[in-house]
Amino acid sequence: MNKIPVGVLGATGMVGQRYIYLLKDHPWFEVTYVAASPRSAGKKYKDAVESRWLIGSDIPSGVADLMVEDASNIEAALGKCKFVFSALEMGKDEIKALEAGYAAKNIPVVSNASANRWTDDVPMLIPEINPDHVSVIAEQKKHHGWDKGFVAVKPNCSLQSYMAPIFALTQKGYPIKRMIVTTMQATSGAGYPGVPSFDMIDNIVPYIGGEEEKTETEVLKILGKVEGGKIVNAQGPLVSAHCNRVPVIDGHTACVSLEFDLPDDKKPSLEQIEKIWTEFSAYPQEAKLPSAPEHAIVVRHEENRPQPRRDRENGKGMAVTIGRLRKCRVFDIRFVALSHNTKRGAAMGGILNAELLKAKGFFDNL
Ligand SMILES: NC(=O)c1ccc[n+]([C@@H]2O[C@H](COP(=O)([O-])OP(=O)(O)OC[C@H]3O[C@@H](n4cnc5c(N)ncnc54)[C@H](OP(=O)(O)O)[C@@H]3O)[C@@H](O)[C@H]2O)c1
Repeated sequence: MNKIPVGVLGATGMVGQRYIYLLKDHPWFEVTYVAASPRSAGKKYKDAVESRWLIGSDIPSGVADLMVEDASNIEAALGKCKFVFSALEMGKDEIKALEAGYAAKNIPVVSNASANRWTDDVPMLIPEINPDHVSVIAEQKKHHGWDKGFVAVKPNCSLQSYMAPIFALTQKGYPIKRMIVTTMQATSGAGYPGVPSFDMIDNIVPYIGGEEEKTETEVLKILGKVEGGKIVNAQGPLVSAHCNRVPVIDGHTACVSLEFDLPDDKKPSLEQIEKIWTEFSAYPQEAKLPSAPEHAIVVRHEENRPQPRRDRENGKGMAVTIGRLRKCRVFDIRFVALSHNTKRGAAMGGILNAELLKAKGFFDNL
């Protein structure tokens, strides 16, 4: 099969580097275009990232000598790639305008940025949960008058560890009314160079700008329904979040307590919950998308797991690992969930979104 040539916007950053590395042997996509800020533009990729390549392996040879373009110069992408992954860190309005600019030039954008997450005809995808949300893309194209271009986004990395577990329960008839979530988020989530080392070593920072709001509200769009070409948010669950930055390189952990929206005699037992999680399988697994983990949820029984260093690579860094499932004295149940923030939560999650879009025909005839 001929691979689809793809671009990475923000290719020099923390998430962009992950894209470059994860796409190195991808069966469907091949990186042929890299773009970043004017600071990096005009340099070979290997020179632009020389002192800040963060992946513990060499720069893929197919990308090392590509010339970095200025991401704002959309014309430079024409003819070099069919769609782009966006991993830009800029002002929201700038990112929105730039992503729309690419879409208008018939280059679809699969984005990690938050700028378009609340645009109601832009799907915010977790392919295990809401693959049907891609249907709003037709309305998005019509609304903008775009022919082949469109924008699709992935949600914030903080909620990845508990979204699949709560969706699996909801889908089996156990809807959730309220949740309290305390996240312990890795430093890589802040990009590079990120949080100053003096704030991070021997320390915990109990604030991540904007993160609690995203963690609390994006859940509702992800669980929403498509109506009239738009996504209508779900009514619940109600989420209260504490988001903390902790001295872990990769892997966001969440301690979750939740209450079911059911009378006591209809609530699931711990055994039923574990069975639902262990058996959970969805579109990416059924369609055998290349980046899908075989098991989207992994349940562990040791009293001291999951741990970022030991569990973040489960399922190629794409599985959610859950442990410490037990009764809650205030709500119904509590558990600890972990997911890899720069893989499932960022670049590989974006690649899985692109695989979903390709499987659904959105990259045909580009
Ligand atoms: N880190 C995570 O775990 C994570 C998870 C989910 C989502 N995200 C989102 O992913 C995006 C990238 O995050 P990151 O952590 O990779 O950030 P980062 O390490 O700071 O990288 C930012 C990238 O954006 C480029 N850039 C900055 N200003 C630009 C401009 N004016 N024009 C064009 N390009 C510009 C940078 O290019 P230069 O190198 O040339 O400056 C770099 O390639 C953000 O929107 C973030 O919210 C991150």
